[in-house]
This record gives sequence, C-alpha cells and structure tokens, in this order.
Amino acid sequence: MVFSCVISAVVIAVLLLSFSSTQRIFERNIEQDTRDIYRYFDAEIKSQSSLQSLLINAIAMRPDIQNAFETKTHNFAGLIDDFYLSANQSHNITHLYFHGLDKVVIYRAHGPTRNGDVINRYTLADAMRFNRTTSGLELGKYGVFTLRTVAPVFSNGSVVGYIEAGMEIGHVIKKTQSQFDVEIIDVFQTQRLVNTTSETIFSLTERHSDGNQVENYTLQYSTPAVLDSVDLSEIPYLLSHDNTDSVIGLVSGNRAFSSRPLYDYHGDFIAKQIIVRDITEKLATRRTDILLILCSILLAAAVGFWVFNHVLLHLEALFAAYLEKQSKQRQIIENNMKSLQSAQESLVQQEKLASLGNIVAGVAHEINTPLGISVMMGSTMQQSVTSFIQQLKSGQLRRSDVEAFETDTQEAFNVLLPALDRAAGLIQSFKGVAVNQASENRAKFDLEEVITSVLDTLKHTIKNKPIEYTLEITEQISLDSYPGPLGQVITNLFENSVIHGFKDDQNGLIEISAAMTSDHNHVEIKVKDNGVGMTQEALEKAFDPFFTTRFGQGGSGLGLNIIFNIVERVLGGKVRAKSELNKGSQFIINIPLVAPGEVEHV
Ligand SMILES: Nc1ncnc2c1ncn2[C@@H]1O[C@H](COP(=O)(O)OP(=O)(O)OP(=O)(O)O)[C@@H](O)[C@H]1O
Ligand SMILES: [Mg+2]
Repeated sequence: MVFSCVISAVVIAVLLLSFSSTQRIFERNIEQDTRDIYRYFDAEIKSQSSLQSLLINAIAMRPDIQNAFETKTHNFAGLIDDFYLSANQSHNITHLYFHGLDKVVIYRAHGPTRNGDVINRYTLADAMRFNRTTSGLELGKYGVFTLRTVAPVFSNGSVVGYIEAGMEIGHVIKKTQSQFDVEIIDVFQTQRLVNTTSETIFSLTERHSDGNQVENYTLQYSTPAVLDSVDLSEIPYLLSHDNTDSVIGLVSGNRAFSSRPLYDYHGDFIAKQIIVRDITEKLATRRTDILLILCSILLAAAVGFWVFNHVLLHLEALFAAYLEKQSKQRQIIENNMKSLQSAQESLVQQEKLASLGNIVAGVAHEINTPLGISVMMGSTMQQSVTSFIQQLKSGQLRRSDVEAFETDTQEAFNVLLPALDRAAGLIQSFKGVAVNQASENRAKFDLEEVITSVLDTLKHTIKNKPIEYTLEITEQISLDSYPGPLGQVITNLFENSVIHGFKDDQNGLIEISAAMTSDHNHVEIKVKDNGVGMTQEALEKAFDPFFTTRFGQGGSGLGLNIIFNIVERVLGGKVRAKSELNKGSQFIINIPLVAPGEVEHV
C-alpha cells in the first residue's frame, strides 16, 4: 500500500517535472525565434541605411552635382535620372530629393514631381544642423515607415545644398515575413499620425479603412488576411502596461504574439512592432514530445515497479531466513544461559556447602579444644575421686591424702571450668549471627551514656596494654533504638582493634566519635584505630561470615558479620570500613535516630 503510494507520487512528480521542463523548452524556443526575427529585421534596416549613405554620398561627391548647386543651375534631372532609375530598381530607393539651404525642395527624382515644398523632417533638420550625413526611420502620414538619409553637398569647403534618399521599408518587412513565415503588424498611436508633418507617402503594405482602429491606435498589416485570423482583443493587451514594454512569445491559441517598441530617429517612441506567428506545428511537436515522455515514464515506472517487486520478494526471503537464523541463535543462547545458570547455582550450592564445611570444621575445632580438655579433666577427676573413695572405705585415708585430693580437685576445676566457659562462649557467638530484632529491647536513650557504659566494661581488656581510647561526642544525641545491640557493635569493634590492630604490645589509640548528620535524622558513629590495618583482600571480605585472620587462635570470623546484621537489620542503618595497611582501620556506622519498626512509647 505504502509502496504503491510512493511509486505513484514519484511517477506524478517526474511527470510534472518533465511537463514543466518540456514547457520551458517550448517557451524558450519561441522566445529565441522571436529575438532572431527582430534581430534579422534590425540588421536589414541597418544595411539598407548604410546602402543609402553610400549611394547619396557618391552623388554628393560628384563635381557636376556640386557645380549644379554652386551655380544654382539646378539641372539635376539631366544629371541624376539615370542614377535614380537604377537605384530605384536595384536598391529599393523610392525617392531622391535635392534641397536648397532653405529646406526648399529643388528637385524630386520621383512622383509627385512637385518642387518648391518646404521639408521639415528630422533627418534633414539634423543634417543641416551638424553638416553631416544623417539617417533615420521616420513615420509617414499614413503610417508607412520610411528610412531616410540626408547628406550635405560641399563645394569649395562650404555647404551648397542637401541630397536626400528615402526608402519605404515594406520590402524589409516582406523579406522578414517570408524568411521566418510570420506576420508583422505595426501599431501606431493615431495621435502621432495626425501630428506628423510628413508628406503623403503611399505604402507598400496594405491598410484597411475599416476595423483598423483599436482604441487610439492604428494598425497596419502586411497581409490583409491576417486581420481575419488575429484576435484583435490581444492587441490592447500587448500595448498595455507601458507602451515601451516588450512582450516576447505570448502564446494564445495556436499563435504566438510578440511586441516591441520602435523609436524614431530622435529616440521617441513611435510604434509597436507586433509579430504574429502560427505555432500549430510547434504545438503538435510539443504534444508528441509530452506523449513520448509520458510513455517512457510509464514504461520506466512499470519496469521499476517490476524490478522493485522482485528485489522486495528477494529481500523478504532474505529477511525471513535471517529471522529464522536469529531465532535459532536465540534458542541456543537461551539454552546456554540456562545451563550456565544451573552451573552457577550448583557452584553456589557447592560454595555454600564448602563454607558450611569450613564453618563446621572451624567451630568443631574451636569447641573440640575446650571440650577435649574438659573430658580429660573429667576422667582425671573420676580416677582421683574413685581412688579417694576406696582409700576412705578401707580406712587408710591419711590427712596428707585429703590435702592432696583437695589440691588436685581444685586444679582440675581451675582447668575444667574455663574450658567449659570457652565452649559455651563459642556457642553463644555462633548464635549471635542469627540475632533478631524482636528479641531485643527498644528504648529511648542518650548515646553518650550508652557508649560510656560499654567502654567502662571494656577497660579491663586493655588494662595491661599500652592502648588508650578517646570518646568524642560534641552534642547531646538522643536515640529511639536498641541500646543492647548498639553496645554489642561498639564492643566487637573495640575488641577487634585491640586483638587485630595492635600486636606485640605496640602503642595504640582507639578513637570513638559520634555526630549528627546534616539532615539531623541520623547519627554517624566512628571507631578508628591506628593499628596495623588490613590488606585490600581482607577489607573486601571483612564482613563475610567466618572470615578471620585468626583461624584456630580463637577467631570465629563472626564479629563483623554480626555487626553488619545488627546495623542493617536491627538499627536500620549502614556500616562501612576503611583500612590501610600499617596505618589503621576505621569503621563508620550511620544509623537513624529513630530505628525502624515500632516506636518506643514509654
Ligand atoms: N581493627 C581491625 N584491625 C585489623 N584487622 C581487623 C580489625 N577488625 C577486623 N579485622 C580483620 O577482620 C577479620 C574479621 O573480623 P571479625 O570480627 O569478623 O572476626 P574475628 O575478630 O577474627 O573473630 P571473632 O570476632 O568472631 O572472634 C579479622 O580476623 C581481622 O583480620
Ligand atoms: Mg572480632
């Protein structure tokens, strides 16, 4: 659907483009032809004008002519008639006048032979004014264009008269018409005709007394038949706007009209020269061209459509194959993912089992030691008690025996009880991993008070060591939270610093501080030591359960994990650690002033 729309749009666009370009070529063609016609006409007029100049100057140079003027014998008829005859027949010269210095016609070499008239035309006037040969196209009284050339005649350095040659340009018009097969119509302002002082000239072209008026214009055509075929309503259009506008190749029906202004010798607008051309043939050629273009476009569109369709089908097949391949690949990837996932799950499971194994082994190892001691002490005491009772029953019990029994029993208990204590302690910390919120008491308390009392209970752990601690809480901070678990967190962190941070009785400082955060909803508690610090690897694993660097030396690796659980799950906060080897460790705890869960109302 979309495809057919696109194809139709493209075909229509190409059609419009081709049509407009055909039209442009056609119009340019007509324009070019028109310009050629005008150019041809102008060149002809120019060559006729040069011819006239040559002819009359040749006469003006003749001594007999100069003499006739000089001596005022004026016998021009005898001197010139033969020349006029040949100029008239061979060169279309229609008249040859001889003027005196006073503009009076001395001799006319063609009819009417009336002499003695005063001639008042531009060409003559200007030839007199500037004393040189002057040519010009002038409009006669009846609307006939006459090309005139006037040359002064000199004798002994001064002007003695003027010779004028004239030619009606009908033959130039006719030549142009036949050369280009066009009609030429001249349109004059009627006013201009009335005002002219030109003498009566008869025209080589036809004039009509009826139907030759269009408003204030007079028409003159070369062929009367043109009048019947030309729509005169076109003429005012060609004259409209401004009289000096040129219209080149206006097409109306099967004719093309062109019009241009004509100027007289003085550059004054005198007429419009209209060319009417029958373009029936050109129109037919254009129609054939358009038809041809149309057919070729349709053919090209059909071929294009077929090819496109073919390509589309091929592409569709390719795409379907691609989709199938892709779905197969996706299936393979999904299967791989599944097997990867199950492999991962089984790995995790194995890992869990492995760490559980480690835990069990560690815990067993830890508990095994005190329990082993206890069992050994128990059996030692059993033997000791049995032999004591036998001695008692046999009546051989001496005082020294009783004293020895007392000492042994005391020593045995001294070993047995701490060992059992140790085992019980291990079991306790193992239970701490699963600490839960419900089992703890929530309360409103002062942070400094709680931390101070916790630190008091820890003092004895550093009694014989060069370790000091400081507590800095700048403002009073009240919490609605769980003081017990919070104390446990502080205790574990403090013990860790003492046990892991400071080895070999090195001097140490533990700095504990607390401050409210900027939102006044949380408190940040820091426990910092300047001990040995941790490696990057240890820092990353520090909060993992059972991670310890003191495996087999009393460390269970549960301390930080318990802290993590208490801070995140019970106190509703976050804990993070920073540590640098040989510089110390720092634990930062951020907890809300009001712990999550039910608020303490008491
Ligand atoms: N302040 C500290 N300085 C240096 N290392 C520390 C510090 N605190 C913790 N660690 C390291 O983190 C490990 C884990 O600590 P955690 O408290 O979880 O276990 P533990 O102290 O080894 O054993 P437990 O606390 O169960 O007795 C420690 O073994 C130690 O390597
Ligand atoms: Mg610890």
